[in-house]
Amino acid sequence: MTIANNMSKISTDTDTACMLLKKGEVVAVPTETVYGLAADATQDHALNKIFDLKRRPHTHPLIVHIHSIEQLSLWAKSIPSWASYLCEQLWPGPLTVVLKRQDHVSSIITGGQTTIALRVPNHPLFLNVLQSFKGICAPSANLYGQLSPTCPAHVANAFQAQLPLILDGGACPIGVESTIIDCSSDKPTLLRPGMVTADTIESIIKQPLANANHQSPRAPGRVLSHYAPRTPLTLIDKDQVASVVASQRQVGLITFDNVNLPNTLIMPREAHAYAAMLYKALHQLDNAQLEHIYIEQPPQKNEWLAINDRLQKAATPH
Ligand code: TXA
Ligand code: MG
Repeated sequence: MTIANNMSKISTDTDTACMLLKKGEVVAVPTETVYGLAADATQDHALNKIFDLKRRPHTHPLIVHIHSIEQLSLWAKSIPSWASYLCEQLWPGPLTVVLKRQDHVSSIITGGQTTIALRVPNHPLFLNVLQSFKGICAPSANLYGQLSPTCPAHVANAFQAQLPLILDGGACPIGVESTIIDCSSDKPTLLRPGMVTADTIESIIKQPLANANHQSPRAPGRVLSHYAPRTPLTLIDKDQVASVVASQRQVGLITFDNVNLPNTLIMPREAHAYAAMLYKALHQLDNAQLEHIYIEQPPQKNEWLAINDRLQKAATPH
């Protein structure tokens, strides 16, 4: 076990994690996407602690993580057969489905809505913990609106000594939050892009996905600031990189080709490899006391949709 310099315990001890969660404590857990702030989904007072820690508005609902698809009907009802099939194909994995909730589900989880978000995460430590629970709520382990954490140090920095335990599952291999699909009506809708692409989902459910246009990050004036570093961030085209390098200002740069500028991070040209590094790169530059971060715009292709979504939200002034 290691103690982070700010005293949250960082360890791989899943028994202690279970014991703390049963007692109604909040513990940070690894998933394949990002780290989550976990609480027992059956204990309202524990769930309230998540909102307090994250400073998250109570209208913003939580995802319930379950151990296997068999637990789906504990939480959701009227599940369309295409939605069950989608879960069978992609779980455990970075897919969240929104379904009609069972009547007993706490409004603290759903933000007062009639739907509930559920997923089976693909991380051995978290799956081990989930075996002992009906469900565990776990929003990303960051302060509301800020960068998501992809390693224990990111969580420790955000929450100092406020957590009794950060379960150490190493770096998150996917690196951006799960794809969210609304399956609560007969019109499957993409609510949040992730590394499971719309193409993959459409090929499984054999019907087109609608886009949640009202919350599309591309709609002018409707872009929400989220997943954002504290340092101002701007997306630039490839032909603007040279002028950033020449400016000699105290800036950070995330780009694809090697350039002669301190605080430059060279990213992979493959989307999955890029996603796995994205938040780590943003955390690193955000901690470097720079006046600005510039990011070379990745390709506007399907497999980059989740990355471009997060970059646009990070570039929106808060
Ligand atoms: O990859 C992930 O999904 C990570 C890891 C930790 O599992 N979790 C995560 O949780 O990103 P969070 O709370 O940061 O984001 C959950 C999203 C929010 O945008 C929320 O609005 C949406 O899920 N959500 C939850 N319940 C919903 C519902 N009933 N209807 C629509 N959206 C919902
Ligand atoms: Mg989040």
